[in-house]
Amino acid sequence: TKITISLIKADVGGYPGHCSVHPELIKTAEEKLEEAKKSGCLVDYRVMACGDDLELLMSHRTGCDCGDIHGLAWETFEAATETAKGLKLYGYGQDLLADAFSGNIKGMGPGVAEMEITERTAEPIIAFMMDKTEPGAFNLPIFKMFADPFNTAGLIIDPSFHHGFTFEVWDILEHKKVLMNCPEEMYDMLALIGAKSRYVIKRVFAKPGSKIPQSEPVAVISTEKLYQTAGKYVGKDDPVALVRSQSGLPALGEVLEPFSIGHLVSGWMRGSHNGPLMPCSFDTAHPTRFDGPPRVIAAGFQLAEGKFVGPVDLFNDLAFDRVRQRCLEITDYMRAHGPFEPHRLPMEEMEYTTLPHVMDCLRDRFVDTE
Ligand code: F6R
Ligand code: MG
Ligand code: MG
Repeated sequence: TKITISLIKADVGGYPGHCSVHPELIKTAEEKLEEAKKSGCLVDYRVMACGDDLELLMSHRTGCDCGDIHGLAWETFEAATETAKGLKLYGYGQDLLADAFSGNIKGMGPGVAEMEITERTAEPIIAFMMDKTEPGAFNLPIFKMFADPFNTAGLIIDPSFHHGFTFEVWDILEHKKVLMNCPEEMYDMLALIGAKSRYVIKRVFAKPGSKIPQSEPVAVISTEKLYQTAGKYVGKDDPVALVRSQSGLPALGEVLEPFSIGHLVSGWMRGSHNGPLMPCSFDTAHPTRFDGPPRVIAAGFQLAEGKFVGPVDLFNDLAFDRVRQRCLEITDYMRAHGPFEPHRLPMEEMEYTTLPHVMDCLRDRFVDTE
């Protein structure tokens, strides 16, 4: 029988400001999910946090887009919102955009990454959780894991995936998707996914000839854009992803290696600035400097009949100290630009702007140039 892994997240209140999740919220969520586990609805769960985002990792036998599971996540976020309200936490209930649950949590505010898989003899799985950034922040690392031979040695020297992978790319503006094969269509795919605010990798699949069924994703990323849901800026679209590893897939170290760059992502301070993505340990995922810099944590598990053996806090390793140091240097450099692009995002992508107001005040003073 197949197992479904659902990673569903929402910011239902931060403390202080947008910095972290209060332990009481984690407790509330754990109580809800423990009940669901006892009733047989869940096989297992873990509650985690990255910055101000509450992260629910759940395993169950009811498939993707299951109303019961999405409903459970929604109720859990509602319960956590009540706790947050009691503590007057900042922006309580922020990501719960709908008034009532209506069958599927997608489009209601929370971010969702889920995959239904046949659990292998040994199934290493990594849950990535980011704060102060957007879904496109995963494009570069997911591309490198599954398509860049300078990152993933297995693409060259492991016969079981020397033929590459298939990527499902979403155009989040037009609500369309396309399947693209790498390495054959790599240049075309990069032309799209380099534009990370519009084209995002949603899933990765093994190709024919792999031991892994092509119908089951080997990676999945949340792609919810809150401003598109709400029609205005209401918070960040801090994304999550699930990645399977080893035995015909990138090794754990190949999955983590792309995060040794500290690549630039958008979403820092007021969702309107670029900054380096800093891999950090669970207990340092509390963005403070200029509300950042953007963070990513990685929780590593082995699955055992759907049970989560773990997590291992994968970036809590001195091998990532240098990239953290580098991120701090990049932080100083980017911050020195203040309100100037490319630290500040281009006008169309900013989530806060005073420009229309400034233009209204100046309209009469603008005259034609020679
Ligand atoms: C939130 C974020 C923060 C906020 C900033 C202003 O995820 O990115 O940088 O945008 O703290 O927040 P408000 O407008 O709530 O005072
Ligand atoms: Mg927040
Ligand atoms: Mg957040």
